[in-house]
Amino acid sequence: MGYNAPSMARKTLITARDLERRPALPLPADALLTPLARDLLRKRGLWPPPVRAGGRGCGAPRLVVANWKSHKTIPEALAFARGLREELASRRPRAGAVVCPPATALANLRGPLRGVAELGAQDVSAHDEGAHTGELAARHLVDAGARYVLVGHSERRAAGEDDARCRAKVRAALRGGLTPILCVGETAGERDAGRTEHVVAGQLEAVFAGLDLARATRVVLAYEPRWAIGTGRVPQGEDVAAVLAHARAVLARAFPPDAVERVPVLYGGSVNERNAARLLALPGCSGALVGGASLDPARFAQILASA
Ligand code: 13P
Repeated sequence: MGYNAPSMARKTLITARDLERRPALPLPADALLTPLARDLLRKRGLWPPPVRAGGRGCGAPRLVVANWKSHKTIPEALAFARGLREELASRRPRAGAVVCPPATALANLRGPLRGVAELGAQDVSAHDEGAHTGELAARHLVDAGARYVLVGHSERRAAGEDDARCRAKVRAALRGGLTPILCVGETAGERDAGRTEHVVAGQLEAVFAGLDLARATRVVLAYEPRWAIGTGRVPQGEDVAAVLAHARAVLARAFPPDAVERVPVLYGGSVNERNAARLLALPGCSGALVGGASLDPARFAQILASA
């Protein structure tokens, strides 16, 4: 099955006025709600809609992913691995752990993290090989021990990576045997303009258009509002749940709903050991993508234990 990218124009926009006029208005699967419409539904106890997918005991695997960004040398990475192993000796996390170190530390971490966490890279070339100085192709990352790779992280988007590039990188990752973790999310300005769902849908459609079901269901999604990254600001739980449900609804326009239920959708942005349990228990949340709090093995282990 191929994915026909739906145009935004075909979505059904529902305003607060529509809901006031017709209180029992059925919400189509592709409904795009204005912020006022959502507030109204919230007051009526109808928002966010109930979502089964991705919660505990549901179809999607649970994952907690550490994104170290440009932190840690090889000796520091090895010290983390020792620490995490010790922390997890007395805990039994319910989520799978993935550590995305700088690429220089991947191969060194393979042995020390075996049985404790999988490895992921933070970026991948869109090319399989060739004259692309400085780029690491999926085969290099697999060779060094990676099984996952982040694609479209907001810090890479801020450095000029557009949707077309994310699309090419997701395909390169899948061709090379890596599981892409596709990051999507809005800026503060887009949120304030009520454009979050529009932005997230556009980022998803750009990447998933033309993917067949087998490849589409190998992608992990991570919703990271850009304004929540590294700021200590976390959106309201119901707003996170609404975007996670929306992301799945966008995929469900093209893929069977039971397959979409098995796609993990993570939340990222200022996740720490104090808020992890609450965020990870949100409807539709399959896990977390963690930056700053993942640098310390005790804090990361606590987040894992909350999953
Ligand atoms: P923080 O957890 O530091 O906000 O970073 C989130 C992030 O960017 C993970 O990819």
